[in-house]
Amino acid sequence: MTTDFSDLHQTIAAILEKEISEVPESYNKKRPYQSYERIQFPGIRWSVEKRITEYGLTRFLGADKVVLDIGSNFGFFVTEFAMTGGSAHGVEWNGYLNDIGRATAQALGVSGKVDFFTCSFEDFIAPLQYDVVFSLAAFYTADGHERTAARDYFGKVEAMLKPGGVVFYESTSYTKTEGSEAYSHYLARTSVLDWLRENMELVEEYETPSGSDGYFRQFAVARRV
Ligand SMILES: C[S@@+](CC[C@H](N)C(=O)[O-])C[C@H]1O[C@@H](n2cnc3c(N)ncnc32)[C@H](O)[C@@H]1O
Repeated sequence: MTTDFSDLHQTIAAILEKEISEVPESYNKKRPYQSYERIQFPGIRWSVEKRITEYGLTRFLGADKVVLDIGSNFGFFVTEFAMTGGSAHGVEWNGYLNDIGRATAQALGVSGKVDFFTCSFEDFIAPLQYDVVFSLAAFYTADGHERTAARDYFGKVEAMLKPGGVVFYESTSYTKTEGSEAYSHYLARTSVLDWLRENMELVEEYETPSGSDGYFRQFAVARRV
């Protein structure tokens, strides 16, 4: 039996209409950014389910785990983590997007397992220590909102992890061609890898092609020692 999510889609469409008109740097002007198979919601990026599978994220989830998603966007990872694991928090400066996350959590019956914080990660005060922190295309963002140094951002992530907790990092999309804007994303990714290597236990790191020819994303898993 398939559930009818048309009311939720209408709620999301109404929020996005306002978001697009009031947030100049909105990612949703052409098409919504995140997609979510569970609610049959299409977007630009692979669905959260496909990303969870491709990135191997289920190994980090569990009924006893509390996780944080930085730059949580529509909150679809947060709700999916709550559906399949324990509690999940999202921190996202754009309050419209958190409203989408709350509406989705309510429609899926997981409101009691999620929390959305409307503030920049830089200003976020963690209410507890996390088992896992996800930073998915949320450091050195293309919208220009995240421009802290890797040591500040990932130092803060490390401090909010339980001992032995892990951070999963997905970079923004970059090229290795000097001079382009996308090259600055490559330098940002390199600064993250260097910081993780020097300050945490870098458990895994790999690069994949991303979209158009010559574009890549970096992935890394690091453990708090
Ligand atoms: C490229 S999108 C990635 C969204 C999501 N993490 C994903 O991978 O599907 C970047 C997200 O980070 C948010 N963001 C940008 N700067 C931020 C900051 N300083 N603190 C919190 N969120 C931020 C944006 O509003 C946007 O939702």
